Formats: sequence, C-alpha cells, structure tokens
Amino acid sequence: MSVNVSDNNIVRIFDTTLRDGEQSPGASMTCEQKVIIARQLEKLGVDVIEAGFAASSEGDFDSVVRVCKEVTQPRVLSLARSQEGDITKALKAVEHAKNPGIHVFIATSDIHLKHKLRMSREQVLAAAVKAVSYAKEHIDYIEFSAEDASRSDADFLIQIFREVIRAGANTINVPDTTGYAIPSEFGALMSNLIERTAGADRVTWSAHCHNDLGLAVANSLAAVHNGARQIECTINGIGERAGNTSLEEVVMALRTRKSYLDLDTNITTEQLYPTSRLVSQVTGIPIPINKPIVGDNAFAHEAGIHQDGVLKHKQTYEIMTPESIGIPGNRLVMGKHSGRHAFDERLKHLGFNLTKDDMNRAFLRFKELADKKKNVYDEDIESIVGEEILRVPGQPDRYELLYLNVNSSSDGIPAATVRMRVDGQERTEHASGDGAVDACYKVITKITGSHSQLVRYTVNAITGGTDAQGEVSCIIEDSGIRVSGQGAHTDIIMASALAYIKALNKIEGRKHYRQLVDREGP
Ligand code: KIV
Ligand code: ZN
Repeated sequence: MSVNVSDNNIVRIFDTTLRDGEQSPGASMTCEQKVIIARQLEKLGVDVIEAGFAASSEGDFDSVVRVCKEVTQPRVLSLARSQEGDITKALKAVEHAKNPGIHVFIATSDIHLKHKLRMSREQVLAAAVKAVSYAKEHIDYIEFSAEDASRSDADFLIQIFREVIRAGANTINVPDTTGYAIPSEFGALMSNLIERTAGADRVTWSAHCHNDLGLAVANSLAAVHNGARQIECTINGIGERAGNTSLEEVVMALRTRKSYLDLDTNITTEQLYPTSRLVSQVTGIPIPINKPIVGDNAFAHEAGIHQDGVLKHKQTYEIMTPESIGIPGNRLVMGKHSGRHAFDERLKHLGFNLTKDDMNRAFLRFKELADKKKNVYDEDIESIVGEEILRVPGQPDRYELLYLNVNSSSDGIPAATVRMRVDGQERTEHASGDGAVDACYKVITKITGSHSQLVRYTVNAITGGTDAQGEVSCIIEDSGIRVSGQGAHTDIIMASALAYIKALNKIEGRKHYRQLVDREGP
C-alpha cells in the first residue's frame, strides 16, 4: 500500500518483541525461534529490531548475533545498561549487523534512583554521559532511554537528554515504564521535552509505553501527535506485565486515521496477521478473541442490524478491511486428498516460508492429521507448524510420551496409564485423579519426579466441529523458572499430556543451561 505523507511524517516502528516482548511470563524464545520471528519482522517492514539484551545471558548474546546476520533492512539493536561491560557486550553482539546500533538506558525517576540504583541525580547524569560517550567511540547509532521517564522530574530529564545528545545519542526514548501515564499528560511531556531540550532537533524522539492501564497505544499516539517520530512496540502487545504498545494496533490506527493525524509508517500492513499468528505460535501466548485488529472477532459481525448493514455496504460497520491486514480471504479447506504442492502454497499464504526439510516434516504431520479429521483448516496447519517446526530445538528432549490410556466414566474414578521414555529408558505408571486430565498429569508427574507447579491450563478448540483439534496451553513453574508448553491433538487428553511434557522438557533445557552458566559463566 502506498504511503503519501511527507518523510518527516513517517513514524519509525521499533519492534521490541524479541526483547521486551520476551519478558512476558512464559514467553521465552530460543535463538532459532527469534531468528524466525526476525525474518518475519523484516518482511513486515519494521524499521528497527531490538534483538535482545546481549549482556543478560549467553542465549541473548547469541540471539542478537544471529538476528544481526539474518536481516539486512532493519536496524538491529542490543539493549545495554549504562555500564561499560554491558556496552562492550552489546557492541560485540551487533558487529555483524548491516545497520547496527545500541540502546543504552538508565533510570531517571527519584523512586528508581533511591530504591533501585541507590545513586544521586548527579551520579546518574555522569553514568549516562559516560556510557553514551564510550559507545560513540565505537558505533555511530545510539539510542538513549530514561527508564521511568513518565514519573521523572521533567527538568532532570531535560538536563540528562541535553547532555546525552551532546555526547552523541541519535534517538531519545521516553518510556512510560510502569504504564502510569494518561494520554494528554504523556503528549504534553513529549512536547515539553522537545521544546525545552537543547539539541532536540538533532535527534529522533521516541515513545516506549507499557499497558498497565490499557493506555499504551493511546499514549504512543499522543506522543507522535506531539512530535515523537518513533514508537516502540511489540507484536500482539506482549511484554512485561500487561505488555507493551501493540504494534498492529498502533500501526492500523495511524494508517486508518492517516488523514486526521497526517502520519504513517513503513509497515506492509498485509503482513500484520501472519506475523501476529507466528508470534502467538512461537510464544504460546494465545491471541484474545476480542483483540483489536488480529483477534478472531475483530471482523465478525454478530448483531442482526450490523450484519444487515455490512451486507448492504461494508463501510457501515467496518473501518478497515480484513484483507488490509492480511487475513486470508479464501479460507481454503484442505483434506487427505490435498497434495504437497497445495500444502506448500497454503503454508506460504499463511506466512510460513519453510526449508525443504521442515516442509517435508510438516507435510507428514498434515497427512497424519488429515487421516483423522475430514477438514484441515488454516488454524490446524498453523498448529502443525507450531508443534513440529517451531518447537524448542537444541537440547534433545529428556521426556517423550509413548502411550496413554485414560478410563473415565460418569460414576467411576478417572484413572490413567502412561508410558514415557525418560533419558532413553521406558517407564510406565498408573494413577487416578479428579478428572481425566488430572489423572494423566499425576502419572506424568510420578514418572518424571517433577516438582513443578501448574500455574495455568487453557484449552481451545482450534476449529469448529467435534473432530476439531484441541489446543492445550499450560504454564508451569519450577525453581523460579516459568515456561509454557502447547499441545494440539484431536484428543483433548492427548493434547493436555503433550503440552505438559513439552513444558517439562523446556524446564529441563533451562536447568541444563543454568548449570552450564554456573560452571562456565555467561
Ligand atoms: O520499559 C522500559 O523502560 C524499558 C527500557 C529499557 C526502555 O523497557
Ligand atoms: Zn519496556
């Protein structure tokens, strides 16, 4: 879709799905998964990818390196605290990027200074200037963020921003770290900072909003209405606590209301839907059905009057089209007679560009499913790719499900027998429970000896009909490690077992990684 607002009115889209988004509980991603998402972000047309926080772990460092090597169009950044060690790691991680940059931050609110940093304003100012000056000796592009800016003293912000601009920062980011700001207030803050900071015209101003009060998108729009030209956001709005500004929402607000705001982005909006589905598959965080833009109900008209209106003229109740965000117009139904070529085409249509090997694996799973279920829908195919291709690679799985038998009746006690392979050895156990899923989870816990707590368990029917695949998502926690696991199957108990075992394997992978780090350092 063409963009016809002046260059100065293009809002840069800075995607932090791989960094702040990954801070969503249970959303941790492997290096491989981050690379898959980064490729899709490039296709989507984001201007900047924040690929990770290189100094935070070896895994993050590697992911930043891999993303830098993978994408060519967007600028790739690593986050770094205002400390020489962090900056050195970040610089090393981004050295292979075509357009590298680093993102240096320090907190500026009195509450953070007093209780977290235990530093005075003078010390924070000195640390920020030192960090930006040091980084500038090695790299051209630096973004500086004043963490908790919306609860910081405006005069202190103006002082610190003036000094870091002088030291070489190219972008100044104003975070609403706690999601506390109100749109009119945040817009006024942005305008005040731009007006009163010396050197403001030499940098791009940026907004980074969290969604604790459900205002992240509104605050980001207020910021650009008041002079900011970069929005930091994540796909599906995932992120720390209630999440970050949702990329698809803020982009579609700018696109749909372009004539009012006179602003636009470089985003290829037709890639929004595939990107949203991909991130949901990889992270295991479902998209709420009423989520604006990408939720299942976003374009569903239920009320009779609405249906009548839409049938007469779509614009009566639709302010954007499903096609404009890439919702597949033709919901082709596949089945057991569908061939490899048709399957490949469908995958591409859904935004998955798989390697030949991955495509072959996915096709085998598709055939297995088509034997069990008459109609295979797009959602089933997405789930196959999620299960088969986007699963956690690297460490071989410690646990494998071999056999499951559940007895359940209206007047008996549900009982389950499970056989699993644990470290190559077959083990079978039996247990009863409050229901079929409970019995099954009890046996798996018995076999694995796991001490994990089940934090959340959700079931979704992927498509309609009694032969629909059920998709189970669970979150478990063990020794402070919280992970999610997903399983899809035409049998809901099987889907539950697969989800739980996947989560247990992830926990084992993390424990293994922790041991390595403890032994050899990050
Ligand atoms: O929310 C925040 O303040 C951040 C900064 C590191 C930019 O994520
Ligand atoms: Zn943040």
